[in-house]
Amino acid sequence: MHVLSVLSILILTSCLCDGRRSRGNGAEVFGLKTKTHYKPKSMFRMYTHGKDMEDSCTIELFQAHTLQSCSFNTSHPLVIIIHGWSMDGMIESWITRLASALKSTHENINIVVSDWLTLAQQHYPIAVQNTRVVGQEIARLLMWLEDLTQFPVGNAHLIGYSLGAHIAGFAGSNLAASGRILGRITGLDPAGPLFEGMSSTDRLSPDDARFVDAIHTFTQQHIGLSVGIRQPVAHYDFYPNGGSFQPGCHLHVQNLYAHLSQYGLMGFQQTVKCAHERAVHLFIDSLLNRDKQIMAYKCRDNKAFNKGVCLDCRKNRCNTLGYDIKKVRTNTSKRLYLKTRSIMPYKLNHFQFRIQLSTRFEKIDPSLTVKLTGTLEESETLPITLVKEVSGNKTHTFLITVDSDIGDLKMIHLTWEAGTLWTNMWSKVKTIMPWVSKEDGPQITISRIRVKAGETQQRTSFCAQSEDTVSLQPSEEKLFVRCDERREKPESVRSHG
Ligand SMILES: *[C@@H]1O[C@H](CO)[C@@H](O)[C@H](O)[C@H]1NC(C)=O
Ligand SMILES: *[C@@H]1O[C@H](CO)[C@@H](O)[C@H](O)[C@H]1NC(C)=O
Ligand SMILES: *[C@@H]1O[C@H](CO)[C@@H](O)[C@H](O)[C@H]1NC(C)=O
Repeated sequence: MHVLSVLSILILTSCLCDGRRSRGNGAEVFGLKTKTHYKPKSMFRMYTHGKDMEDSCTIELFQAHTLQSCSFNTSHPLVIIIHGWSMDGMIESWITRLASALKSTHENINIVVSDWLTLAQQHYPIAVQNTRVVGQEIARLLMWLEDLTQFPVGNAHLIGYSLGAHIAGFAGSNLAASGRILGRITGLDPAGPLFEGMSSTDRLSPDDARFVDAIHTFTQQHIGLSVGIRQPVAHYDFYPNGGSFQPGCHLHVQNLYAHLSQYGLMGFQQTVKCAHERAVHLFIDSLLNRDKQIMAYKCRDNKAFNKGVCLDCRKNRCNTLGYDIKKVRTNTSKRLYLKTRSIMPYKLNHFQFRIQLSTRFEKIDPSLTVKLTGTLEESETLPITLVKEVSGNKTHTFLITVDSDIGDLKMIHLTWEAGTLWTNMWSKVKTIMPWVSKEDGPQITISRIRVKAGETQQRTSFCAQSEDTVSLQPSEEKLFVRCDERREKPESVRSHG
């Protein structure tokens, strides 16, 4: 995305929003009198493995023979991939990547790409108006297919990126208007400008298909606007890494000018693209790495999620991100949160830690790290981010993520990493006051560590190896083992189903 275009969106948006949106031609009727003379404004390209998109076979509305010539098999389900706003009028490379990932895992599937490039390579507000037209054409295609070949619209899955997500929504609402229900819509970072805050009929919404899921990856707000829509628009809305920005996509839009001077316009374009398009690659990941399905958890907001309090799977509070999502319809949109790696495979394993920490000191802010040992592997040393300082005797909860499957958790090493500054200061104190024993220095007392693994929903309690409580001092490491293995009688290892 060109920075000038971004600026022009901003200007145009503020104008349009004042006068409210021109509603497109949503009232246009389907029952065309002259079907044969209908000139569609977008194209339907049938994806064939190993063939360039530009050379693909095109299905033409109301031309039944093109279904045969493109080898459309009506007994297979259909996926329609819909691209977004276009700067250069070219078919973007992710489309082929997604189509190929779908084909490699689901051989018996019809994959069609909705090519609306000529309508998409326009000023953003014009492209936005065109989304209604393209949505209608997709609805028209599906109705024609159902009437002609009995291909049920319920077997169609629309996957739309950015503006394409809202196109999928308009296709679904057009079908619904004639009493037909689309199977599924997946919105990949649905576009924000001119859609955020609009009524559910003017954007993608859960009413548009039997099941709707959305992945929000670039909703970082600047000048009151974000590229991706922030509000929930689906049955399940996923917010990876909080949804506002993605790891590995370096740029904070607040530092736009600094970034522009360093990397130029191309750098900016790449960054927007990186986080916006991450939704697509997370979806592709779910197809390519089927043994590394990503789990996400319902949470109030990202802050609560970072505290580790939301790793619950009861009552459909968690779900799988991507193609194999559990299609549970709910009355309200569920916001699901998760952390990811910066590269594919994106999966991370989530652990909730609950530790009782007490200190005699007024307040200390120790830098603690943990190392987790599982039945399969040992994690790296992971920093703990405490939301509040340690004072008095309080329970602290936090989230720890591990990028490999370590198996069932067996042991925890907890370390107070003392910087050199701290160590020097302590040795100075000892020089001045040699009678001060180590026990008089700063220390934290820990009784028990309770851990819940999000992916397995297993809860385990960890105790110090010999004592009931241990004290930890700067530069010290303490080992915690499973309480039930330390003692004779099994300890409470609760698990929730
Ligand atoms: C469609 O697929 C089915 C099975 O997947 C196959 O038996 C049938 O021959 C195919 N039809 C066409 C026209 O290729
Ligand atoms: C959905 O809402 C209706 C009434 O508003 C309620 O009766 C029903 O139990 C709800 N279903 C779920 C799954 O929450
Ligand atoms: C902290 O409080 C808990 C109960 O809330 C208690 O079991 C524990 O012994 C206390 N720890 C210290 C060091 O006072």
